Amino acid sequence: MLVQGAITGKRSYCGFSRPVIDYLRISITDRCNFRCTYCMPPAGMNFKNQKDILSFEEIIRFVQAAVDLGISRVRITGGEPLVRRQSAELVARLAAIHGIKDLSLTTNGAFLLEQAQQLKEAGLLRLNISIDSLNPVRFSQITRGGSLKKVLAGLDKSLELGFSPVKVNAVMLEGIENELEDFAALARAMPVHVRFIEFMPIGRRLGGIWKFVPRKKVLDSLNLFGDLKPADSPVGGGPARYYKFSGACGTIGFISSMSDHFCDNCNRLRLTADGKLRNCLFSDAEVDVRPYIHKSREELGRVIAASIKNKKFDRRREKPLARTMSQIGG
Ligand code: 5AD
Ligand code: SF4
Repeated sequence: MLVQGAITGKRSYCGFSRPVIDYLRISITDRCNFRCTYCMPPAGMNFKNQKDILSFEEIIRFVQAAVDLGISRVRITGGEPLVRRQSAELVARLAAIHGIKDLSLTTNGAFLLEQAQQLKEAGLLRLNISIDSLNPVRFSQITRGGSLKKVLAGLDKSLELGFSPVKVNAVMLEGIENELEDFAALARAMPVHVRFIEFMPIGRRLGGIWKFVPRKKVLDSLNLFGDLKPADSPVGGGPARYYKFSGACGTIGFISSMSDHFCDNCNRLRLTADGKLRNCLFSDAEVDVRPYIHKSREELGRVIAASIKNKKFDRRREKPLARTMSQIGG
């Protein structure tokens, strides 16, 4: 069996220290019930056929091999993961894998009201919910038809069930500057971590023009509604930087993938729904691991180890990627 420290341990090569790769994001479907304007065309994408998507059995076999290599934290993503049937069953099977210490899911929240309880019982620990707008009309425009009311009911339900932490992701799209008071109120009144995300130019097929608000503008405007002080990161804080209003239940965070260069601390691998292993969000390089899933755990382990070993920590990409965010899993 391969020894994690030999490949992924934080150690110094010529003065450069490599982070431990312990975090795996698994996209379980490329489909989504929303069509966010910056993510998908109105008619959707050329979605994969079911036969081209990894089965739960294949995902479990992959994760078992990845755990041998040091993976201990898993996030389930999409598309929208909750459109896949029986996603709670997959959660339960992942939670049962010895060595998985943290299990989380990123969702658009549309099906949370119905599914949060099952997910909780299956062993899911944490949730990230994407809410780009707190204005029902604007929310429906951005998502092309999504119901903010339903998503907020799902958020409430998740808090009631005790998911912790619950994070709310909002991409800093033009127009958000008029909603910052509402986002600030949310982070004050509820134990949620509102994270403002810088848009990443991913997916060359979309080709649209969107306007985005810079982080500084958002932070400065938020400061008009109270005094934001730097705060500790919640569990799984990742590359976000956090702030807090005094006396608030929640926090405000920023994920500045474009203006901050946090590649050198990157600790993650990504598995796409169709079984491609990617070691960098900003690179099109991927390995088709599906054939190896059907070989021995050791053989699959060697392929994962090679991807970890080849991971670069200084990659900045200007050219748009071939896959879109929904096809990679964010
Ligand atoms: N840049 C930044 N965030 C994006 N998301 C989707 N596409 C992009 C992009 N190009 C966000 C979604 C959701 C999370 C999964 O990723 O809004 O919050
Ligand atoms: Fe779906 Fe998320 Fe893309 Fe919106 S951003 S269409 S919720 S995958």
